[in-house]
Amino acid sequence: MCGIIGYIGFRSASSVITEGLKHLEYRGYDSVGVAVVHQKKLNVRKDKGMVQDVSTKLDFTSMDGHMGIGHTRWATHGGVCKENAHPHTDCKKNVVLAHNGVIENFSALKADLASKGHIFDSETDTEIIAHLIEENMKNSKTSSFKEAFFTSLKSLEGSYALAAFAVDDSEERLFFARKNSPLVIGVGKDELLAASDIPAMLKYTKTFVPLEDGDVAILTKSGYKVYSLDGKEVSRKQMTVDWTAEMAQKGGYPYFMEKEINDQKHFINESLASDVTAAKSLIDQYENIHIIACGTSYHAGLMFSYLLGERGMSAQAYIASEYPYIVKPNKNTLVIAISQSGETADVLQALRYAKGCKKIAITNVVGSTITTIADCVVFINAGPEAGVAATKTFTCQLGIIYKIIYGKEKLESLSSLIEQMLKTEKKVKEIASALAKSENIFFIARGKNVPIAYEASLKLKEITYIHSEAYPGGELKHGPLSLISEGVPIIAIAPDDETLAKLFGNIKEAKSRGAKIISLTNNLDVQKESDFSIKLPELSSIDPMLYPFAMIIPLQLLAYHVSVLKGINPDRPRNLAKSLTVE
Ligand code: AGP
Ligand code: GLU
Repeated sequence: MCGIIGYIGFRSASSVITEGLKHLEYRGYDSVGVAVVHQKKLNVRKDKGMVQDVSTKLDFTSMDGHMGIGHTRWATHGGVCKENAHPHTDCKKNVVLAHNGVIENFSALKADLASKGHIFDSETDTEIIAHLIEENMKNSKTSSFKEAFFTSLKSLEGSYALAAFAVDDSEERLFFARKNSPLVIGVGKDELLAASDIPAMLKYTKTFVPLEDGDVAILTKSGYKVYSLDGKEVSRKQMTVDWTAEMAQKGGYPYFMEKEINDQKHFINESLASDVTAAKSLIDQYENIHIIACGTSYHAGLMFSYLLGERGMSAQAYIASEYPYIVKPNKNTLVIAISQSGETADVLQALRYAKGCKKIAITNVVGSTITTIADCVVFINAGPEAGVAATKTFTCQLGIIYKIIYGKEKLESLSSLIEQMLKTEKKVKEIASALAKSENIFFIARGKNVPIAYEASLKLKEITYIHSEAYPGGELKHGPLSLISEGVPIIAIAPDDETLAKLFGNIKEAKSRGAKIISLTNNLDVQKESDFSIKLPELSSIDPMLYPFAMIIPLQLLAYHVSVLKGINPDRPRNLAKSLTVE
């Protein structure tokens, strides 16, 4: 979903906010806007487009003032246009507000406000909140913005992270509130920030206060206070992070995705250093395990279920949004949720559905909502991931899963294996040129290689817009084979392991129907059948259990290079966002 940020302090608010928005853009990039107040005058600039373009065009950083808010949007209500861009205001242009989430009862609220004479400038659900506060200010004896803000929150159904202020506020204050959307306060010296996530604020502080659902925070230049919805002050823990601002930068690469693919050789070691003892001992106590996740994290979860299954345990991976429709977990079920962001609404809902069950969360984000729901948390330590396509966090999720199952000793060579596979890039680029004009690309694999095929296919379709499907090799003959004709690319994930003999048969089936075969293999016969082949390490130099780590690297690179060849920004694929906080 979108990113919100607010700043109050001694610096130019518009500069801090514009800088922060660049870090938040991965969360949504339909439009961008900034509102600052200076000497009781409001200045709002916004438009559709990317942060860099819009901020330059509208000269964001020339806006004076030491207090303001900003927003990058991932549209849910209303088209992508300037009018729907945030921040929004009330009729009097006094209440100023940016929002991440969805107000589910917005139609009823809007109708009611319209009947009271409010005029709306946008189609968004967000704008009604500004008008609702305006209306509640009229009804409050003191016309207090604070009182109206709290009252208005009580009428909202759905999800929100809100940043707001009133131009005519007698004090300089920024208001924030959260319900099912992330929000973190950044505590600096004589300056305070709040944003959807930490990297947006790293330049100014390393001290953070993650807010909880139902919290309202009020920031002034000299400090912050957190309240519950009924107005009582509550205390929230401060934490410090050791992430650097550079870790959230591109480090000389043209795109975050390329940097993040290359960074895997370092971060896998950070990941393997993570403590999995508590999670492992919980897993050993349960016979029935449900793993819930979405997208890439689901593929890591699927791998987890294969590995636990191999050990004779009953483990099932579920797509989080479907979980409540499929099973009823009970107190004998251990639920493991995997989520890079720790904020994915589908995952959080599935966890809430698993009431009464012990829960483990595997996540990358310290202070994320999932960490407050789970009984046991394992951090994957992958550092901030900015590219919408998950790469290093997938490998690090696998690292944690493998450590839980096999222990750390067997994984010591992982970093050098990843480094070795990064060297396939030249070959990968050649294959990328051959595939860039394809309309359909299929992946096949068997056994533990299937989650890798699914992940590679998701990566490819996500950032190249080429239609792609992945199948267990045995399934080809049950339908998909009819899609294979002369020249259709099939990428076969074919390491020399127990799956090879049967997969080789599937490769032959496809080839005899004209498919162009691209293989990842260390087997000579498969290489001979292939139009292109990416070499996996010789059997003598790799422990076969590490194949998944070897295979995913060139496949991530392949998606990346096809994307760049097609002129797409792989960090910001259309219609997607990094953190999906709506169901
Ligand atoms: C991965 O490339 C995707 N952008 C997406 O599938 C992602 O993995 C999914 O939205 C889950 O996110 P999470 O791990 O933060 O929960
Ligand atoms: N629902 C709001 C809109 O469509 C906010 C979406 C977001 O989180 O960016 O503008």
